[in-house]
Order: sequence, then structure tokens, then C-alpha cells
Amino acid sequence: MPLVSSKEVLQKAMNEGYAVGAFNANNAEMVQAVVETAEEEKAPVILQISQGAIKYAGLEFATAMVKTVADLASVPVVLHLDHGTDFLQNVKCVRAGFTSLMYDGHAEELGKNIEVTARIAEIAHAVGIPVEAELGTIPKIEDYESMLPADYDYSTKLPADVQAKVEALMADPDQAAQFVEQTNADSVAAAVGSVHGMQRAVQPLNIARLDAIREKTGVPLVLHGGSGVICARKDAEELGIKLEDHEGTIEDAIKHGMSKVNIATELSLEFLGGIKDALAKDPNQKDMRKILLPGKERVKEKVRYYIRLFDSAGKGVVAGAQSGLSASEIKYAE
Ligand code: G3H
Ligand code: ZN
Repeated sequence: MPLVSSKEVLQKAMNEGYAVGAFNANNAEMVQAVVETAEEEKAPVILQISQGAIKYAGLEFATAMVKTVADLASVPVVLHLDHGTDFLQNVKCVRAGFTSLMYDGHAEELGKNIEVTARIAEIAHAVGIPVEAELGTIPKIEDYESMLPADYDYSTKLPADVQAKVEALMADPDQAAQFVEQTNADSVAAAVGSVHGMQRAVQPLNIARLDAIREKTGVPLVLHGGSGVICARKDAEELGIKLEDHEGTIEDAIKHGMSKVNIATELSLEFLGGIKDALAKDPNQKDMRKILLPGKERVKEKVRYYIRLFDSAGKGVVAGAQSGLSASEIKYAE
């Protein structure tokens, strides 16, 4: 079916209490892995293309890949600009056919963030495209490199001084209502304790802050940096991480109104892990497909895990929609 807008899938998710997976992709294998799995799980899905991915693949090529696979799918697929950091990139994506935008104005002062988001929303809404805005700052782990111990392996909570810096950047609930009203944003990426680019899921979210923001906004909320957030309470127990009363996991955040969860780093690690294993087993292989496919299969299993965690499996059934994605003879051709 043709691409759908994030407005419809996120409103439904918000009303029904689940989250839609928003998965980043940089190449054809990743795009196929995400949508094939969404199809198998009958889940709505958001394919995110970042500005970096646009530079890597080219805007026209990236758009065409996602449109083609969406046309073959029977589940709703959204094409979203992830972390658009300038006005013109957003306009170019509207023209290219994206069905969802983001303006990430966290580096601007609040007034400028509001002003640019509102300008993008005005243009995008004129052609029915929704816009995600960022309130507060969701930092990157690289921002704290100099503060991390040299042997930090991502398998434990962040050191207290780093955690304090992350918390200081969280979204302010007192700004949230005005932010939504003045930007006209359709969804808000509110900073509630996650950190981009973590290589293990050890970070708790501040659920009390999420509640306060949800009460003031009334639009779907978006979790960035999903790879680094503890998925479920049993995972925290296994890791020996004690959650404070105000803290929680991805599962908790969805129960408290998070409607979109972004995952990038974890999928990249899985893709590379599959490739590394395949090369280790068969270092002289000359057929690149035999090396890339194990990477794609690992991405599929991870996407499946997240779709089930987010409770979006089965939520993408569209009456009368036909799937054209069962071409396994093409995927595994010699
Ligand atoms: O915008 C994309 C994300 O927020 C993904 O973050 O790479 O930490 O999963 P991640
Ligand atoms: Zn992000």
C-alpha cells in the first residue's frame, strides 16, 4: 500500500496504548529487513532516514527504496525524516514524498526552536504531513566520552556525574504545553533520560517526568535513543540495576504514553555482527550476498523483538491490503 502519514499510525497507537517502532535504515538490506518483519508481524512501522543516511544513500534513492517496499507491503509504512536539523532539509523531504518530518532544534535556544518548528509545520500541514519536534536535549554518548572511564564497556549504568548531566538536559514540563501550542507540532520527542548511541540497554527513563510532560501535551510522545534504554523490568533485574521509584523501562514508558520508539544503533550492531560472523566462518567467500544476508537476518530478529516489546504486532492489519513481500526466492537466489 502507499506510504501513510505518521499522524494516523501514532494517533491510533496513543489511543490504544502501544508504540510504533521507528527503525533507522541506511541501505536496501535494512529497509527490506524492517518492512519484511513488520509484514510478518502485521505491525505498522516507521522507516526513518536521517540526514546522515540521506548523505550516504542520496535523497531520491532512499525515498524510492522505502516507497517501493511500502507499495509491496500490506501493513502501514511511514517514511520519516529523523533529526532534520534545518528548515531546507525538511522542505526537500516534503517534495521528495516523505510522510513525516522532524525538526530537531535542541541546539537552538527555545524561541528559535519554536519559530523554526512552527514554520516547518505550517508548510508541511498545508500538504498533510505531520511534524515531530524536540523538547529538551537527548544527548549522544559521544558527548560524554571524556567523562567515561577508559574501560567503560556499556554494560553498567552511566557514572553518576554523566547521569546528572543527562538529567539536566531533560525536557521541562512547564514549557511543554506552550511548546506544542506555539510549534503546532504533531508529536514531541521529549528528553526523559535516554542517550543516543548506547551499545547496551542499561539506561533507565524518568517516568515521573514523562507523566508530567504527557499531562501537558496531549500529542503522541516519542522516545529517542531507544537502543540504550532498559527494555523490561526483568532485564533490569538480570543486569543488577535497581530502578528508583520514578524510573522505568521502555515497557513502562509505553504504559505511560510513549507512542513512538526510535531504534538505530542496536540494528546497526546486529547487521555488522551478522556480517562479522559470516566472514569469520567463511573468510574466502566471494559472493557478497552470502555475507550480507546473515546481517539482514539478525536485523529482522531484532526488529521482531522490538515490535513485540512495543505491543504493535497485529496492529497493522488493513482490510483488503495485499502483500507482495513473499519473494523469498529473490532474497536467497544463488
Ligand atoms: O533518532 C534515532 C534514535 O533516537 C535512535 O537512537 O541509535 O540510540 O537507538 P539509538
Ligand atoms: Zn534520535
